[in-house]
Order: sequence, then C-alpha cells, then structure tokens
Amino acid sequence: MRHVWQTLAAIAVLGALAGGTVVAFGLYNVSARVGHLPGVSWLLHTTFRNSVRLRAEKPDDMPDLRDPALIELGARHYDTACRTCHAAPGEAQSATAAAMVPAPPHLDAAVQDWQPHHLHWIVANGVKMTGMPPWPAQRDDDVWPVVAFLTSVQRGMTDPEYTALTRLPEGKAPQTYCLGCHGQGGSAHVPPLGHQSAAYLEMSLRAYLDGTRASGIMAQAVGEVSPEALDDLALWFAQQTPEPGPFPDMPAELVERGRALAHAATADADVPACAACHGPNASEASELFPVLTGLPAPYLRAQLFLWRETGRGGSRQAELMRKAAQNLDDSDISALVAYYATLQADESDMEHE
Ligand code: HEC
Ligand code: HEC
Ligand code: HEC
Repeated sequence: MRHVWQTLAAIAVLGALAGGTVVAFGLYNVSARVGHLPGVSWLLHTTFRNSVRLRAEKPDDMPDLRDPALIELGARHYDTACRTCHAAPGEAQSATAAAMVPAPPHLDAAVQDWQPHHLHWIVANGVKMTGMPPWPAQRDDDVWPVVAFLTSVQRGMTDPEYTALTRLPEGKAPQTYCLGCHGQGGSAHVPPLGHQSAAYLEMSLRAYLDGTRASGIMAQAVGEVSPEALDDLALWFAQQTPEPGPFPDMPAELVERGRALAHAATADADVPACAACHGPNASEASELFPVLTGLPAPYLRAQLFLWRETGRGGSRQAELMRKAAQNLDDSDISALVAYYATLQADESDMEHE
C-alpha cells in the first residue's frame, strides 16, 4: 500500500513540475489563430450546454414573454449590447466577431435549442473563457426583456421587423438615443422622465453609472453617452412636458385601499406616509423625491419589489425609501400601485387634507 502512495505522490510532483514548466517558459501557444487542441472545443461546448441544463431553474413568476413592450425593450438593449457579437436577424456577423475562439453563434442559431429559462441563465451568467459576458448588474428581473426578444427571434422575427423595432428618432443629439426607449412617455417597463426634477434625473444617471442603482439595461445605456453629457441630458428631460400617463383601469376598492395606505402613518415613527414624500400634497417633498403620478403600473410594481427585496439604491436618501418599503406585503404593493398609477396630476390640487 505504501508503494502505491509513494508512486502516486511522485506522479503528482512530476505532473506539477511539467505544468509549471509549460507556464513558466510560455510553452503553451495562446494564439487564437491556432485554435484549441483537437477535442477541446467539443469538450468546452458540451460542458457549457450540460452546465446550463443542470443549473437553469424554471421560475414560478415568469413575465409574459409575448408582451410587445417587453420585446421592444429587449430588442433595443440587444442592439447596443449584443449585436456586435451575434448580429441582427438576417445580418451577417462582422469578420472580427466570426474570428473569435470560440466564435459567437449567429443570433438565429444562438437561440435555437434553448427554453426561456435556459436563455435567462445564459444571459444572466455568461460563459467563462468564451467572451460571452455576464449581465452587468446584480439583478435578474431586468434580463427578461432580452429573453422576450430572443424568444421572438425563435418564432422567426425578420430583418425588417427588427429594424422597425429598434429604430431611433431622427437627429444626432445625445437624447435621440435615450428617446428610443424613453420617448412618447416611455412604455409599461420604461419610466417617462418629463415628470421628474433635473436633480433626481441627474442623481439617478450617476447611480446607474457607478452601480449604486443596479440595472443591466441602464448601465449599458449610460455608457453609450459621455459622462459630461449626463447633466445636460438630465436638464433636457426635466424640461420636457410630462405625458399625462397611461392611467390604466383598476378596481375601485383596490385604488381606495392604496389611497388609505399611501396616507396612513407607519408603524415606524421615523418613516412618514408615502404621500408625505411623494404627494399628493407632499409636506416633506424634496427635489430628490421622484413624482409617482402618471408612472406606468408595471414599472411602479417592479420598483416597489426591488425596494423591498434588494433595497434598490440610488441617492443617499435611498435609506428613507428602503425603510418605507421593507414591511409592505404583496397586496399592499398591488394597492399602492393601483392608487399611484391612476392618480391624475390635478388631483393633488383638489385634495386638501
Ligand atoms: C464579446 C462578444 C459577445 C457579446 C457582447 C455577447 N455574446 Fe453571447 N456569446 C458569445 C460567445 C463567444 C458565445 C459562445 C459560447 C460557447 O459556445 O461556449 C456566446 C453564446 C451565447 C448564447 C448561447 C448560444 C449557444 O451556443 O447555444 C446566447 C443565447 C447568447 N450568447 C446571447 C447573448 C446576448 C443576449 C447578449 C447581450 C446581452 C450577448 N450574447 C452578448 C459572445 C458574446
Ligand atoms: C434600451 C432602453 C433604454 C435606453 C436606450 C435608455 N433607457 Fe433609461 N431606463 C430604461 C429602463 C428599463 C429603466 C428602468 C431601470 C430600472 O429598473 O432601474 C430606465 C430608467 C431611467 C432613469 C431613472 C428614472 C426613474 O424614474 O427613476 C433615468 C434617469 C433614465 N433611464 C435616463 C436615460 C437616459 C438619459 C438615457 C440616454 C443616455 C436612457 N435612459 C436610455 C431603459 C432605457
Ligand atoms: C421619507 C420619504 C419617503 C417616503 C416616506 C417614501 N418614499 Fe418612495 N422614494 C423616496 C426617495 C428619496 C426615492 C428615490 C431614492 C433614490 O432613487 O435614491 C423614492 C423612490 C420611490 C419609487 C421609485 C420611483 C422611480 O421613479 O423609480 C417608488 C415607486 C416609491 N418611492 C414609492 C413609495 C411608496 C409606495 C411609499 C410608501 C409605502 C414611499 N415611496 C414612501 C422617498 C420616500
């Protein structure tokens, strides 16, 4: 038995020495031109596929992946973040992308074999040692728009459909890029910006830039313009006339419950009612407290879950908001969303309390 152990130990030492020599003298050729040794590509790719199938879990709360607003948001993000490597539907990949080792598959091929939860896992986690990057924020819910887009590619999205979906307004000003998503009052998942103060918008853009407010989509978007342009963009958007808001139909009892909750004193003496900070008739309003009137319901809902589950983040004032959200249950959130999403701007002048 002792012999066996001694032999194994000797083999291990020789192996380590051989490995060390290869590393120390640069004997391994890292040239991507040469490609991998025979069989290595197959080994890595098979490991990748099996690893995804093992780890990706089907969530209980998948959003509606056929929601056109979700697909458009995903397509617009894809256009700046992923297209350089995987190309658009019906478009050839660039020579440089095609020369990568391993080469990123063309979009049409990349989505073929996967179910939505697999695609979510791949886009959230990336693939080590391949150039496929992970999602640039510690947050999983904002990966779903990209998955919604990828599944519509599976269903056969055409080149003209893609072009129409990702079209930008005319002009060269930096805000034309932002208006692709934030134009016309935003969408169900993209907040309109004209309601907010320049101070709040500017603070939010800096928070996306330094990661204190996590969003893979906005982290990519702020990187598309120069940091010096951010203050001007905040000012420009704050000066736009706010769109009146979608004002969805909501059950009257739910809105009533939301109204009561928004005005009720909280259990924590340090935390005032929502309305004290966000209105209507806010008594403690500051330029850094966002206006909620006219924001779309799905966006409000997503943000309240983020505040409660992750503490969201943004300014130094975020701590106040974190406390205000920490004890809300799901039905409180539904009621508050119903109230603020249907609150007409002029109601704040009519209500006297
Ligand atoms: C810098 C280049 C690069 C960028 C940017 C990039 N990818 Fe990839 N992607 C790759 C490479 C390389 C692979 C192949 C990994 C492998 O085969 O092991 C890959 C694999 C994938 C796959 C799995 C395809 C398969 O082999 O089954 C999907 C899906 C995918 N990427 C989607 C995206 C999305 C969505 C984005 C943007 C959020 C993105 N990628 C950004 C390089 C990139
Ligand atoms: C691909 C779509 C997309 C583009 C392009 C985009 N945004 Fe956004 N923006 C979003 C989404 C989605 C959110 C919500 C993110 C979150 O959950 O925090 C958002 C949030 C914001 C917020 C926070 C608003 C609030 O009420 O808290 C600001 C400010 C903002 N964007 C400004 C900009 C500016 C300025 C640009 C151009 C440089 C831009 N965005 C480009 C999609 C986009
Ligand atoms: C003490 C003041 C305060 C109270 C009370 C408060 N908030 Fe906030 N809220 C804030 C601040 C400050 C922010 C922005 C923080 C940041 O981004 O750094 C915010 C952000 C939000 C946002 C995100 C808006 C956007 O455009 O992204 C929502 C939604 C929200 N609050 C809802 C509520 C609700 C509902 C309540 C009551 C349960 C509440 N808030 C109570 C101060 C407050």
